[in-house]
Amino acid sequence: MSRGLILGIESSCDETAASVVERGSSTLSSVVASQIATHARYGGVVPELASREHLRAIVPVVRAALAQANVTFADLDAIAVTSGPGLAGALLVGITYAKAAAFAHNLPLIAVNHLEGHIHAVLLQEREAAQPISPQNCHPERSATKSKDLLLDNSNAQTPALALVVSGGHTHLFLATPAHGSWSYALIGRTVDDAAGEAYDKVAKLLGFGYPGGPWIDALSLHGNPHAVPFAFSQIKTKLHLGGAAPRTKAAKTAPIAALDPHFLFSFSGIKTAVLRYVELHNLRPEAESRRQALFTGPDALAKPTLEQALAQCDQQTLDLIASFQRAVIGDLMKKTFAAAASLGVRRILVTGGVAANRELRARFTAEGAAHAVPVLFPTLALSTDNAAMIATAAWPRFQAADFAPSDLSANPSLALGH
Ligand code: KG4
Ligand code: ZN
Repeated sequence: MSRGLILGIESSCDETAASVVERGSSTLSSVVASQIATHARYGGVVPELASREHLRAIVPVVRAALAQANVTFADLDAIAVTSGPGLAGALLVGITYAKAAAFAHNLPLIAVNHLEGHIHAVLLQEREAAQPISPQNCHPERSATKSKDLLLDNSNAQTPALALVVSGGHTHLFLATPAHGSWSYALIGRTVDDAAGEAYDKVAKLLGFGYPGGPWIDALSLHGNPHAVPFAFSQIKTKLHLGGAAPRTKAAKTAPIAALDPHFLFSFSGIKTAVLRYVELHNLRPEAESRRQALFTGPDALAKPTLEQALAQCDQQTLDLIASFQRAVIGDLMKKTFAAAASLGVRRILVTGGVAANRELRARFTAEGAAHAVPVLFPTLALSTDNAAMIATAAWPRFQAADFAPSDLSANPSLALGH
């Protein structure tokens, strides 16, 4: 009998990842090779370098995933690969490898939308948390997240959920509805310009911190006063004048804006500019900024700076600015997500993507969810950022429905999810 083993492959941005997942509910291995060190000195992902690094990493990463799962290609039932959205050249490396491996080993190929993958990261986490603890699924991170709330909530796993996908490339709200063993998605809201993670990265960059900036802002915010700088929500404007016209971000190109309720649209480019103005207006120690830049992008940057080193380069005003920025962004994400859940009558919220790793975001969404009796679920920290376990998991219902990719599958950099 087939074991329902799917090898997932993910290469849409700056992480080369491979994972073996059994029946969409049990992770046998999850290997992620990060390119952060390559891109850090440029302050963001350089597409050409990303493709080159994926080419270098793909074979060893897949080998490691198979070895850690203690399986060979002969044990697999299918290969799943991210087909979009993402960087064209980066996606192509994963797709080309997956196609060749599927052909060579006579396995079906399944194409997965990266955003659907992020949503399934939460579902995977939920299923694993509900499994009885056995020696195989008892690794530290998994058991640490095996909370009572998740176990109780698993009875709801087949009810509609509102999913907030919040990462470096996306800030999208989807209504995810289970349908005949599979899932369907309706786009409810999204950013009209920068993604939330992009705003984190840009603000971190303009203050002289390294890439990716999200984890630094997360850590430094704990040392600042979040009420010091009153970034009003009105500064995060939804640009209604865009109407149905294509917005500026690449990832957002295909999804229509005009049809969406403006209450559920996000815009994060305004707050980035507001932070820049604040820095200029208050002349926030330019010499500290250049010292931070040297620390994060100079020759010593490879030995990742410690939090103490970063803190030593920050005055209180800078820390207050960082904490206030984070409070405003998370407040906006929260306000619109809970408003959308209420308007749709949805009793379950999934928050996923790189920014879902943020501590303040997790704490505030969880508290708000408790206040409204709407459970909020997150992936583990490792499953929040890009990984391939989420791709193999999203592929499982497709495998059962024999929904396979054509042999001429190609990359779709602006692939949309939902209708
Ligand atoms: O999901 P992901 O790995 O890649 C995309 O699909 O974009 O997300 C990466 C993004 C980056 O913008 C990074 O700064 C942000 O997630 N991020 C965080 C945190 N960890 C990663 N943002 C805020 N707080 C964090 N702890
Ligand atoms: Zn992602």
